[in-house]
Amino acid sequence: MNQRKKIIAANWKMYKNLAEANDFFTFLIEKLPKTKAEILIAPSFTSLWHAFETTREHPVEIIAQNMHQEEKGAYTGEVSAAMLKSVGIQRVILGHSERREYFGETDTLLKAKVNTALQNELKVIFCIGEKLEQRKANTHFELVKNQLQNALFELNKSDWKHIVIAYEPVWAIGTGETASPQQAQEMHQFIRETIAGAYGSDTADAVSILYGGSVKPDNAPALFSQPDIDGGLVGGASLEVDSFIDIIKAV
Ligand code: 13P
Repeated sequence: MNQRKKIIAANWKMYKNLAEANDFFTFLIEKLPKTKAEILIAPSFTSLWHAFETTREHPVEIIAQNMHQEEKGAYTGEVSAAMLKSVGIQRVILGHSERREYFGETDTLLKAKVNTALQNELKVIFCIGEKLEQRKANTHFELVKNQLQNALFELNKSDWKHIVIAYEPVWAIGTGETASPQQAQEMHQFIRETIAGAYGSDTADAVSILYGGSVKPDNAPALFSQPDIDGGLVGGASLEVDSFIDIIKAV
C-alpha cells in the first residue's frame, strides 16, 4: 500500500444556490461515513463562506472551483487568491476542461494561476485530460504530457507537496461514459511516470492522482482499486448526498 492521500472531491460546477448547498451539508454531516479519505467539496463562490462556516467542525474541506491569476486589479467579476483565503479556502481547482473549453484558459494562463495560488499558500487540484478526437488519434498521452509540462514543470520539487492531479478525459465528463479502470490506470501510471521523469520517483509517488469523468457509485470501486488512482473528482454524482456518500465508501 502506498502512503498517498486518498481524496474524494466534489465539483458542483454551476449547480446549487445557497439554500440547496445548505441542505446538502446538513444531510452530509448527519450521514458522513468514517473514512481515511479527505473529503473536498467545491461549491460556487457565493456559497463558499457559508459552506466553510457550516463544515468547519467536520472532516470536510471546502475548496474553490477557480480563481484569477492576478493578485488584485480591475478585473470585473473575478475572484483572487487572497479573497478565497479570506473566507477560509485553502485549495483551488485549476485547469478544469470546462474552463479550458468555454473560457479559453490556456496552459500559459494556467501556469500563471498555479503560481499565484502557490504564492498565496493555496493548494491546487490541477485538471488535465484529452478530448475524444485526441484519444481516437492516439495523441492522448502526448497531450496530457504537454498539459503537465506547460503548466507545472517549472515548479520547484517542494511545490509538489501542494499539488494534486485530476485526470479527467473530456469525453467522459457528464456523458455517462467512463474510462474503463484499465484505461484510467494506464493514463494515471503514465502521468506518474512523467512526473517521475521530471522530479524523481519520490515526488511522483507522493502525488495523489484523481480520476474524474462520470464517476458513479457503481463504477467507483473498480476505478479506485487501481494502483495509481488515488480517488475521484466527481461532478454529477456529487450533487446528491446519498450517491456522494456511496462514492466515499468506495475509496
Ligand atoms: P461528471 O462526474 O459529471 O462527469 O463531472 C466530472 C467533472 O468534470 C468533475 O470535475
